[in-house]
Amino acid sequence: SDTLRLAVVPGDGIGQEVTPEALKVLDAVLAGSGTSVQTTEYDLGARRWHASGEALPDTVLGELREHDAILLGAVGDPSVPSGVLERQLLLRLRFELDHYVNLRPSTLFPGVAGPLAEPGEIDFVVVREGTEGPYVGNGGALRVGTPAEIATEVSVNTAYGVERVVRDAFRRAAGRPAKKLTLVHKHNVLVHAGHLWRRTVEAVGAEHPDVTVDYLHVDAATIFLVTDPSRFDVIVTDNLFGDILTDLAAAVTGGIGLAASGNVNPDRTAPSMFEPVHGSAPDIAGQQKADPTAAVLSAGMLLDHLGREDLGERIRTAVRTDLSRRAEGAVGGRRTAEVGDALAALV
Ligand code: NAD
Ligand code: IPM
Ligand code: MN
Repeated sequence: SDTLRLAVVPGDGIGQEVTPEALKVLDAVLAGSGTSVQTTEYDLGARRWHASGEALPDTVLGELREHDAILLGAVGDPSVPSGVLERQLLLRLRFELDHYVNLRPSTLFPGVAGPLAEPGEIDFVVVREGTEGPYVGNGGALRVGTPAEIATEVSVNTAYGVERVVRDAFRRAAGRPAKKLTLVHKHNVLVHAGHLWRRTVEAVGAEHPDVTVDYLHVDAATIFLVTDPSRFDVIVTDNLFGDILTDLAAAVTGGIGLAASGNVNPDRTAPSMFEPVHGSAPDIAGQQKADPTAAVLSAGMLLDHLGREDLGERIRTAVRTDLSRRAEGAVGGRRTAEVGDALAALV
């Protein structure tokens, strides 16, 4: 039997509430599986930043590297200036651990009432670039607070960075029944980055004649995500477009409380990190109102990544069952921990 060394970062707000539920379900699914889990919890986020002024000490980053995977809740708190924890903790982890594939699946589970009257079948995955784009912090401000202020955030797109994520997206598309890849960008305006992405998709696509390639400008992609989401199979896109599209995709498939993600290092040079798509939700934090399903499904993706798709599938099956019970009205109005209990009993 082997031991999974798991680092846990509950973080801020509802991260503190949904992460214990994900761990509860993880424990339940691992019981008797031949794999045991050894968790180390890391107190990172607003509390630590207030106490020490540090978001992510180098020593902690070093310890995190020694794990098989990281489970994260959410970071960001109204008591901390916006951008501090997001950049110095969350984005630093994604960059330092080279999470160049931000994997965000969107599935409309049976019975789930999304906002669309006739949604059709929805089952696609967004491969969001995770280490470049406008997120890199390449910018600055001049003459701040004056009428002459200038602020820039320059999107960085390297041939190396674009090629590796596009290759990953093609491999995923080739392994799926529909074998379709849609590049989402805005090459009609962002011509420099856009054409790099376009040429890269064309070149890598030549190695995958079995994969159908499509392209949409990001504005049009938001139309089709609402009017015809079934057209999507694998979407590959840059860091910022992927961020925005995956909140929309979550809304279309039943809400942000169900949307899971993985920050994946496909080369396995560092641990991958799994987290809900949602944030710390200060508006409902501390009230046991958050749906922990996204965190639980993220733990399922973590198991997939570590080669235990059988256990990941058991988590998804439990979620499907729980969601159909909700649809029947058999359950509802539950506290965060009660949803976790129900899912732990179902795996
Ligand atoms: P958010 O995702 O935290 O909340 C958006 C809305 O969705 C809120 O109304 C919230 O109550 C609701 N919501 C979110 N998760 C839910 C759940 N599990 N169950 C039920 N409802 C849920 O986004 P925001 O308000 O834009 O950001 C709040 C903070 O979180 C900010 O500091 C932001 O930077 C941070 N954030 C962090 C992450 C992350 O850690 N990965 C992701 C997004 C936002
Ligand atoms: C997400 C979040 C983060 C992002 C923020 C908090 C840095 O919105 O994980 O989707 O933009 O990637
Ligand atoms: Mn986001």
